[in-house]
Amino acid sequence: LRNRKPIIAIDGPAGAGKSTVTRRVAQQLGLMYLDTGAMYRAITWLVLNSNINLDDEAAIAELVSQVSLELTPQQIKINGQDVTEAIRTLQVTASVSAISAQGAVRRELVKQQQGYGQKGGVVAEGRDIGTHVFPHAELKIFLTASVQERAKRRLQDLIHAGEKQITITQLEQDIQLRDYRDSHRQIAPLQKAADAIEIITDGLTIEDVTAKIVSLYQEAINPK
Ligand code: DC
Repeated sequence: LRNRKPIIAIDGPAGAGKSTVTRRVAQQLGLMYLDTGAMYRAITWLVLNSNINLDDEAAIAELVSQVSLELTPQQIKINGQDVTEAIRTLQVTASVSAISAQGAVRRELVKQQQGYGQKGGVVAEGRDIGTHVFPHAELKIFLTASVQERAKRRLQDLIHAGEKQITITQLEQDIQLRDYRDSHRQIAPLQKAADAIEIITDGLTIEDVTAKIVSLYQEAINPK
């Protein structure tokens, strides 16, 4: 038996519904929600607000080696500043792939993520959770959906957030580009872990997907 509580790893591309579903799963199972994408976004925000170019890996490595990140399920702070909302802008979204492809950034953030998971009792979402961060997670889910479905959902979120300039075609292109970059980068590309269970969320509600994961978790920790 392990001397830590169980861990659930939820990976998949942007817009598959990971965040909402992961939050609900955490609530229903009483686990801590860990949003690793928010950590890459916070570093990106910091770089965009410093006088550092996105491709200046040495300067970014230096920045990351001294960074202080405070993460709770409700809030993220970087160097003491609350960036919970600032990390969701289109500008951060457009730049985050360039930052999350850098080795020094990934090494530091993976180390911090593993720290949050040390005692278990965590449901973490990201791109490399089942493959790198928590390869021994009790349950691994690969959550995905078609590009069209994901663009439709993103559009609704952005309209809700007051964004008026964006079109569905633009969003489909953005998603395709980000998928390509995230799954072709050299370090820890987005990949389904061999032992992950794939769930395609087209046509499924948030409740459907949450219930499915909760039941898979119960089976995984209490096999019949
Ligand atoms: O899930 P998200 O859209 O908030 O993630 C933002 C970016 O961070 C995404 O383009 C890929 C990257 N990311 C990553 O490389 N590894 C993770 N574990 C989580 C996110």
